[in-house]
Amino acid sequence: MNSLNELLSLEGKTAVVTGGGRGLGRIAAEALLRAGARVLVASRKKADCEATAEALSPLGHIEGFEGDVATAAGVAALVAEIRSRTDAVDVLLNNAGTTWGASLETFPWDAWNKVMSVNVTGAFTLTRDLLPELSARATLADPSRVVNVGSILGTAPIPDDSYSYGASKAALHHVTRVLAAELAPRHITVNAIAPGPFESKMTAFALGKSDVRESVAGSMPLGRIGEPDDIAGAILFLAGRAGRYVTGSIMPLDGGLSIEARSKLLTSHL
Ligand SMILES: NC(=O)c1ccc[n+]([C@@H]2O[C@H](COP(=O)([O-])OP(=O)(O)OC[C@H]3O[C@@H](n4cnc5c(N)ncnc54)[C@H](OP(=O)(O)O)[C@@H]3O)[C@@H](O)[C@H]2O)c1
Repeated sequence: MNSLNELLSLEGKTAVVTGGGRGLGRIAAEALLRAGARVLVASRKKADCEATAEALSPLGHIEGFEGDVATAAGVAALVAEIRSRTDAVDVLLNNAGTTWGASLETFPWDAWNKVMSVNVTGAFTLTRDLLPELSARATLADPSRVVNVGSILGTAPIPDDSYSYGASKAALHHVTRVLAAELAPRHITVNAIAPGPFESKMTAFALGKSDVRESVAGSMPLGRIGEPDDIAGAILFLAGRAGRYVTGSIMPLDGGLSIEARSKLLTSHL
């Protein structure tokens, strides 16, 4: 058996994190960096990615640059930028994501498509186009890794005014399993994490208010919302030697939300 360090070390690896300039992506980028990987972070806001790279650079080799996964042209430009920096990608974290909130009666067509473009089409297309780099160092003993950031809302039918978001994450979970099946013979694992509530810009409208945050935390089976170490642990497991035999999984990272059920179905009605 390998040592604890060998199970989780990413020394010599190159990782790409979309949406790595802030939020969960930045947390993951820091975890990958601390494990020894060279990390490339990209999103629409170049300045955010550059600032994150500068702030985290004392921990290791990190580069931040622009990359928009919402359009075909954006993905093509991002792939060209990644190729100008590296010949191999050992870990691709499709973390970039967006959402839209509106009532059922008013939910706009454009918002549906925008969310699907970033959360599903962008993640799929970037993975497709980076297959040569993902294959470059992939071996039977040490597969390359794709990790998609799904959501509890892609697993559980919780409307929460975010109809396209839930549908996009369910689609991303399915794409994860389809690509896992297709890419296993090519020594590339494909997994997803399905986070519950974490504080970020995306959830600030609710979790940014302390009373709401406490109320949400109190409603979670494990009694709290997610914290940075929860993201870091899941990503390092899936990216490291520890997770090399796992593919096609949708890892719940949700404090038990996805297994929450009525404590009684029949007996409570007696
Ligand atoms: N926070 C939660 O509770 C939670 C729960 C489940 C899943 N998630 C998922 O976690 C991921 C990260 O979200 P977050 O919570 O950290 O929210 P966030 O702070 O809003 O981060 C979203 C990230 O995606 C990037 N992004 C958005 N559109 C993009 C595009 N077209 N091209 C490239 N990058 C784009 C953003 O950067 P730019 O604006 O610079 O492009 C930003 O870095 C998302 O996939 C989200 O769905 C979050």
